[in-house]
Amino acid sequence: ARITLRQLLDHAAEHGYGVPAFNINNMEQGLAIMEAARACDAPVIIQASRGARSYANDIMLAKMMEALIEMHPAIPLCIHQDHGNNEATCLSAIRHGFTSVMMDGSLMADAKTPATYDYNVAVTERVARMAHWVGASVEGELGVLGSLETGQGEAEDGHGAEGALSHDQLLTDPDQAVDFVTATRVDALAIACGTSHGAYKFTRKPDGDILAMQVIEAIHEKLPNTHLVMHGSSSVPQELQDIINEYGGEMPQTFGVPVEEIERGIRHGVRKVNIDTDCRMAMAGQFRRVATQDPREFDPRKFLKPAMDALRDLCRDRFERFGTAGNA
Ligand code: G3H
Ligand code: 13P
Ligand code: NA
Ligand code: ZN
Repeated sequence: ARITLRQLLDHAAEHGYGVPAFNINNMEQGLAIMEAARACDAPVIIQASRGARSYANDIMLAKMMEALIEMHPAIPLCIHQDHGNNEATCLSAIRHGFTSVMMDGSLMADAKTPATYDYNVAVTERVARMAHWVGASVEGELGVLGSLETGQGEAEDGHGAEGALSHDQLLTDPDQAVDFVTATRVDALAIACGTSHGAYKFTRKPDGDILAMQVIEAIHEKLPNTHLVMHGSSSVPQELQDIINEYGGEMPQTFGVPVEEIERGIRHGVRKVNIDTDCRMAMAGQFRRVATQDPREFDPRKFLKPAMDALRDLCRDRFERFGTAGNA
């Protein structure tokens, strides 16, 4: 059944679990995520970025979500816009059946320039007001994702040494978070704690200097009733790096967010955990393996089926470790 983010995260908070939000671009990802949810009786958030919407087409995505719901009527499914950049993106998502939108006002509408606090509050409050009129939920973001090791942020001017972002920009301020949630009335708050998108998050296994879980605890103390969201939450498991590299990949050694750190976050108010990179790596490893082990193969299903199985197993592991399993 289709469910809003607010409904789902209220339940998660009441029962002390977290919900993975897996990114989706195509049918195979949808099938694998829902198969995992069904296998362990978990509610789930499926999210589409602007890139996913233009890749798959809004109509295709909407009908696919409808099909997944019809195939799995007992699984609560929240359909979420990931990183909406302006009001129009958020509203068109809702028109296509999304039950939740992220208005990412931490960046300007170009999704490259860091925004001022006042801009963020104003645009997020507008989207929240409009979304709530029609029963959809809203996630806002305060703080810019990026590496505490290099100061390189998501924002364009965070690249390179001279444009490096400060710790003030890369870590959400707990007092400002209270003000932001009060002013915008968001249903969930994405925070910045040293994670970044993609596979290259940390050059070593992260400690508190570069993955600031203590910031989450401080925010949760001030906002005990606000659902927190962790972006950039892929764990970049060593075994997925190894499969890719064993079959011709050339991924340099890298480190993601250990699952136990996410579990710690869940004990301190994190309810939505965004994961895309791990899903991509699970599938890509199998594409490479099949291509290498059977170079005569050309049936796409022979590549996609093992990729779906690997994605399903990854999703299942996260449902179990985040405590989502058994809550459908
Ligand atoms: O926020 C980033 C997500 O991993 C989506 O990535 O914009 O390449 O679809 P994308
Ligand atoms: P990862 O790149 O760590 O999977 O993060 C995904 C994300 O935050 C999507 O919004
Ligand atoms: Na999001
Ligand atoms: Zn994100």
